[in-house]
Amino acid sequence: MRETAENRLPGDPDAKTLVEQMIRVDQAGEYGAVRIYAGQLAVLPRGRAADAIRHMAEREREHLDTFDRLIVERRVRPTLLSPIWHVAGFALGAATAALGPKAAMACTVAVEEVIDEHYSRQAEQLGDDEAELRETIETFRGDEVAHRDEALEHGATETLGYGVLSAGIKAGSRLAIWLSTRL
Ligand SMILES: [Fe+2]
Ligand SMILES: [Fe+2]
Repeated sequence: MRETAENRLPGDPDAKTLVEQMIRVDQAGEYGAVRIYAGQLAVLPRGRAADAIRHMAEREREHLDTFDRLIVERRVRPTLLSPIWHVAGFALGAATAALGPKAAMACTVAVEEVIDEHYSRQAEQLGDDEAELRETIETFRGDEVAHRDEALEHGATETLGYGVLSAGIKAGSRLAIWLSTRL
């Protein structure tokens, strides 16, 4: 039997706090994902990329619904930063889509790579006492990895300045995770 946060160090949050932080940051992240795709679709409403984006956005909506439900069930205080993610997510989506469909896909690859790491780390910290949450996170991680692969198939890496764009978006995503865990 593995327990949640069993490898925690002195000063690390206890299991209850850790789980609350996970639900808070994941709800914020899935909200951000919904907003990114909304921004992309506002700029690129039609075409091959738009069809793929619409599919991915549907999954993000399901992910968000799940964490919205968990926020209520587990009485977790939601992030205070939703108004920021509302605007920043949409802006990131719209800005990348304005650079073209491949840049929009490059955005998805960058975000999903960060989320893959983030969900993996959470799944490692969750014990058998949180098996259901761990399974949910693992399922969602699988969806995010599939989105990354789909975006790669759409030529994400052929975007001009891919390296810089990707590094910038990853840094922003990591900052958003850090902030939404705490605030
Ligand atoms: Fe998601
Ligand atoms: Fe995703």
